Amino acid sequence: MLICVPDVLTKDDVADFRHIMDTAEWEDGRSTAGSQSALVKQNEQLPPTGETARKLGERILVALAANPLFISAAVPLRIFPPLFNRYGAGQYFGEHVDNSIRGDHLTGMRIRTDLSVTLFLAEPGEYDGGALIVDDYYGSHEVKLPAGHLVLYPSTSLHMVTPVTRGTRVASFFWLQSMIRDAHARSLIFDLDTTIQELVERLGRNDPEVRRLTNIYHNLIRFWAEL
Ligand code: NI
Repeated sequence: MLICVPDVLTKDDVADFRHIMDTAEWEDGRSTAGSQSALVKQNEQLPPTGETARKLGERILVALAANPLFISAAVPLRIFPPLFNRYGAGQYFGEHVDNSIRGDHLTGMRIRTDLSVTLFLAEPGEYDGGALIVDDYYGSHEVKLPAGHLVLYPSTSLHMVTPVTRGTRVASFFWLQSMIRDAHARSLIFDLDTTIQELVERLGRNDPEVRRLTNIYHNLIRFWAEL
């Protein structure tokens, strides 16, 4: 299941990110690729342990912590420090899999990659091509979102970024380990939470059935969560 989360960053934040990134040093994107994906990866990225990536990444983590839709959909346990990349004309990232485990050299953090995240930092009109294509059981999905929006997709999927033919595609990307490992269980939790929020709008938080459904929601989290 792919889930889009709008307005994670404001347009002002995006402009500030872009300004900071424009003056930063970039490196070959293959430095963080596994051996298979290095063969099909052509882009640039901010050095992952550099100050620019860390500071901007920290701002993204703060924004995510305040985003109810993201929390509800991902139920995150640990989020990998966000990375940043850009694709100029002719650059692309062919079909690949993401590594199942990712370690961060600076913090020693290790996570199992349950969900992959792309946070778009360029408007769709700034570039042609550069779509994220995700293959799952339901087929092939093409994603290209406004700047400041993100997409969550299963790290188990094969995916790619099509060649950019004009302009520059700028994004942040990272992975997370969810408290709920099983994707099906996670989607049930998300569905239930979304339904409860809609009922709260209509009936209020103190409605007896809303209370019981909320109890069921928390009991399912108790049943499935791994910390
Ligand atoms: Ni990937």
